[in-house]
This record gives sequence, C-alpha cells and structure tokens, in this order.
Amino acid sequence: MSMTLNELKQRLIDIAKRFKDVRFATSLAAEDMVITDAISKAGANIKLFTLATGRLHQETVDMVNTTEDRYGILIEKVYPKDDDVQAFIDQYGMNGFYDGEEPKKACCGARKIKPLNEALAGAKAWLTGQRREQAVTRSDLPLRELDDARQIAKYNPLFDWSESDVWAYIDHYKVPVHPLHLQGYPSIGCEPCTRAVKAGEDIRAGRWWWLQQDSKECGLHVK
Ligand code: ADX
Ligand code: SF4
Repeated sequence: MSMTLNELKQRLIDIAKRFKDVRFATSLAAEDMVITDAISKAGANIKLFTLATGRLHQETVDMVNTTEDRYGILIEKVYPKDDDVQAFIDQYGMNGFYDGEEPKKACCGARKIKPLNEALAGAKAWLTGQRREQAVTRSDLPLRELDDARQIAKYNPLFDWSESDVWAYIDHYKVPVHPLHLQGYPSIGCEPCTRAVKAGEDIRAGRWWWLQQDSKECGLHVK
C-alpha cells in the first residue's frame, strides 16, 4: 500500500478539523468503502450520505444496510423529488437517457444533481472517492479543489491511490465489498447505466457505454 491507514486517517482528521460541517458522498463502491472504514477508525466528524436515485441495483441498496450495521453509523439516503422524476419521464420516457447526452443529463439532473445540491446545503466541505487513475477526465484531480457550483471545498482523499492500493486496503482490513465488484463491475452507478467490463477494458467502459469517453461524467463532478 502506498499510503497507510494512519496517513489516510490523518487526511480525514485534518479536513474534519478545518471545517465545521463536512459530508462524504458514498456510492458504496470500493473507494467509498475504504473512506468509510477510515472515517470510522479515525472517529472523524464527517457525515455520510448516499444519492438514492431510484435506479440503483438492489445490491447497492443492500450495501447501505451492510455498511451501517458493520460500522454502527447512519448513511443519509437522499431521494430525488417525485415531480422532477415525473417531469423527466413525461418528456423523455423512463429510460430516455439511452437516446443521447441531453436526456442523460436531464435524468442525472433530476436523480443525482438536484439531490446532491440538497445533500450539500449548509455543508462547508465535502468528500468523494474519486481517483486520478479512474478516467481521462480525472487525470489532474487534486486532493483539494473548489466546488465551483457550490463555492465550498471538495476533497478527494484517495486522489493519488492506485486500484491495487484500494484492494490491498480492503483485503487487509476486511472491508465489506459491493457484490457487483466480484462480477466484473469496476465502477458502480445506476443499474440501467452500468455494466460489467471485459478483461483489459477501461474501468469506466461499463458506465454510460453508449456515450463518448470524455462525456462520461454524470455532473456530480463537473468543473
Ligand atoms: S460518477 O460521476 O461516474 O457517477 P463515480 O461512480 O465514479 O462517479 O463515483 C465517484 C464519486 O462520486 C464516488 O466516490 C462518490 O463520492 C460519488 N458518488 C457517485 N455516485 C454516488 C451516489 N449514488 N451517492 C453518493 N455519492 C456518489
Ligand atoms: Fe439516470 Fe442513468 Fe444518470 Fe442514473 S446514471 S441518474 S439512471 S441517467
């Protein structure tokens, strides 16, 4: 492991000390489980939330409960507004996001971005599990950035971790693993927009596979 638990804990403690209200967005994927484990071990004052889009895999919903039980913590579930979801369905159809970039943005807007705004209202800083190695769009990712949309600090405490660092941590500390990771899913999003990848394929190849490589961000992390 290039970074020890103690160093990661220290990163998290420093962030929690520096800001009054720090929140962590977890998708229950491997990186987010590492951060959850370290937050818990550090006793850092960081609240967890997950965007319950209504289109997640059952396995993801189950992971929320598994994680709460394992660490004795509460993960706030942030749901989209019925009216926003309905407006999307009326205009594009339930699975209209397959028709192109604009409807995909509209669906993520209703199911992820508006709920994220709500989840971060009043927060002074937030955390994500993003890593540089994950995507061409993330190769310059810093530890700390400014969230332009909300004008608050945004941290990526695993920005410099490799995939093998993540798995070494998980194995060593026996961190719960999302079952889809064991079925060829390196990255986990909504069920209709995520699929397994083949050996050698890019780790984001299974996300919004019908769109261009450089537009495969859902808007949670636009600059
Ligand atoms: S995405 O932009 O393509 O959806 P990705 O799945 O790589 O993002 O996850 C990157 C980070 O975004 C995660 O580590 C997590 O912090 C946050 N994130 C993604 N999906 C969710 C979700 N459903 N709920 C909360 N946070 C999420
Ligand atoms: Fe909608 Fe797919 Fe975005 Fe989920 S990932 S909010 S289902 S477009």
